[in-house]
Amino acid sequence: MKIAVLASGEGSNFEAIVQATRSGILAAQVVGLVVNRPSAGALKRAERLHVPSMVINPREFSSPKDWDMKMAETLKKWQVDWVVLAGFLALIGPEVLKSYPNRIVNIHPALLPSFGGKGMYGQRVHEAVLAAGEKQSGITIHLVNEEYDRGPIVAQFKTPLGPDETVETLTARIHALEHEHYPRVLNDLITGRIKIG
Ligand code: GRF
Repeated sequence: MKIAVLASGEGSNFEAIVQATRSGILAAQVVGLVVNRPSAGALKRAERLHVPSMVINPREFSSPKDWDMKMAETLKKWQVDWVVLAGFLALIGPEVLKSYPNRIVNIHPALLPSFGGKGMYGQRVHEAVLAAGEKQSGITIHLVNEEYDRGPIVAQFKTPLGPDETVETLTARIHALEHEHYPRVLNDLITGRIKIG
């Protein structure tokens, strides 16, 4: 199975996924990384890991539709079977959605349906969780549809919040949870152990 990873930021999940394919935890090959921002740290990781990468920046396209078409065309050219979002901060367009029904997966750093939606990403999510006085947080792995963070949930993993919890401690713990579980859940999806659609 061929995977493309889509990222906008540091790419630590991208790296965890690539390493998992190489250690045999994830029965797939990461054939490419797509970023929507030239500044994405994930690009450097791709270079170090020898994974082909591409910047497809919406600002360089005259319309969201043209950007979507280019995304779909690139994934098709790479003969991708599964599209994996790892900190990708753009809405997936209709052409890509249509090309990969039930084959686009995202990870969110909180327990959806709470603390999700447009603008809820990165530290903002953890700030909101702490401000709400939650007793626990966690990660959600879900299929992607036309709305931010609203596709069917595939798996969730929880972590309790301590009394001295800060955005920094929570960020670190959530990242560790993501790196441990995302590759394994992707493997379960790809091998059909988790059934969808
Ligand atoms: C992760 O916490 C992920 O849940 C969220 O964005 C973050 C990306 O981190 N969607 P990284 O770029 O993989 O380090």
